Amino acid sequence: MNAILRDSLKNNQAYYKEGELANYIPALAKADSKAVGISMIDIEGNSYSTGEYEKKFAIQSVSKPITLILAIMDNDIDFVFNKVGVEPTGDPFNSIIKLTGSAKPYNPMINAGAIAVTSMIKGKDNEEKFKRILNFFRKLAKNDKLKLDQEIYLSEKETGDRNRSLAYYMKDQGIIEGDVEEIVDLYFKQCSIEVTCKDIANMAAVLANQGVDPITEKRVISKKIARIVRTLMTTCGMYDKSGSFAIEVGLAAKSGVGGGIMAEVPKKFGIGVYGPALDDKGNSIVGMKILKELSQRLNLSIF
Ligand code: DON
Repeated sequence: MNAILRDSLKNNQAYYKEGELANYIPALAKADSKAVGISMIDIEGNSYSTGEYEKKFAIQSVSKPITLILAIMDNDIDFVFNKVGVEPTGDPFNSIIKLTGSAKPYNPMINAGAIAVTSMIKGKDNEEKFKRILNFFRKLAKNDKLKLDQEIYLSEKETGDRNRSLAYYMKDQGIIEGDVEEIVDLYFKQCSIEVTCKDIANMAAVLANQGVDPITEKRVISKKIARIVRTLMTTCGMYDKSGSFAIEVGLAAKSGVGGGIMAEVPKKFGIGVYGPALDDKGNSIVGMKILKELSQRLNLSIF
């Protein structure tokens, strides 16, 4: 397995030249575009990693399915999906177009939907809410050291007006409640948590194992919630590239503009890949190529 990972890294690393670093959040543009890491964890708990799998990067949108799980656990399935839909948009992740009208976001994987989801996290104040999000991420990643990257957070906060506008409109239309600035602040923090490939592979392994932690063998997420989130990752996780990704790779996955992609192979593996150069949709270009190679060589597609 380690040899296959090394091969896929070597065969695909050069694709970074076809992508670009996220520059709309200035702190993300400082990443090393050549960096690549891969981590795979099977549901027996064995792990295989290569390249810069211990390099830290901002979780960004890979956080969306994880916060969604917590929001469903904090409320319930109907409450959450009354406010946020489950349909792909075919639009960019930060698009405002389909919010007109009722303002119910199409799905929880785009920014509008994720902000609405974050607004449903329980806690007496933002500090407690963020602590709960961080602790949940730590639990799934099996890493107590996960923390906020302050520079990314501040950069995101400074340049997050599109997200603010999505949130203010959703508040106006009754989709979200409470102080909009606090809600987007919590969302910026959630996106700025530093992770490694290994961390997101561990998170994905819990999903692959249908909600049971492969190492402790304890259930952390109900089977039903795990199934819903894995389904949404499959249909919406790669934004307006979810369809071609399903054809080429065929795995439930979630990308983030920090360069990470978290993917899961049902009852087999959690996978984390990192490569900060992005395609025009905001997905790691090297990450997608690596997942395609792994899927073909190991026959992983669910379709
Ligand atoms: O809200 C944003 O724009 C970022 N914090 C997260 C977006 C993101 O990661 C989209 N992913 N590909």
